[in-house]
Amino acid sequence: MQPKTKHLALGAAFGLAILVLILLLVVVWVAYSGTYNIAATQGHQPLVRWTLMTTMKNSVADRAEAITTPSMNDEMVTAGATDYKSMCQHCHGGPGVRQSEWARGMLPEPPHLTDTISEWEPAKYSGWLNMGYE
Ligand code: HEC
Repeated sequence: MQPKTKHLALGAAFGLAILVLILLLVVVWVAYSGTYNIAATQGHQPLVRWTLMTTMKNSVADRAEAITTPSMNDEMVTAGATDYKSMCQHCHGGPGVRQSEWARGMLPEPPHLTDTISEWEPAKYSGWLNMGYE
């Protein structure tokens, strides 16, 4: 390697290391300073929301590739609907049922799943339910 090229490469590597260090310091500063408001009454900043939602959707999509959607009989569908009604419906509503009033006050508001379900392929939805959601 020519001495001039070597100096350029070293300078670029040093610049990159400084940039990474600054980014890490910003992350640590945000974590320790308490400046970011995590209150559920306010919702996330748009950039944070975008990062979380994009990460979540791509994480589910990536893991769903390995999932074969289970076939269901009537008994399983009825059991699932009963579970959904007792565990999910108050927040997410159901066919012809709105979310309960207190759930509509949450930030973010729980989506009405019968409206958003068409955005999710069965394998992704199945993967989501198996994995849970942080
Ligand atoms: C206490 C209220 C609450 C309960 C109970 C609840 N959820 Fe949620 N759920 C939410 C909220 C709030 C969101 C939106 C999160 C976001 O946008 O960041 C959500 C998001 C979802 C999503 C993603 C929807 C989309 O299109 O983005 C799915 C799927 C989901 N929940 C399934 C379920 C299932 C299945 C159950 C029952 C086992 C359940 N949830 C119970 C509050 C709830």
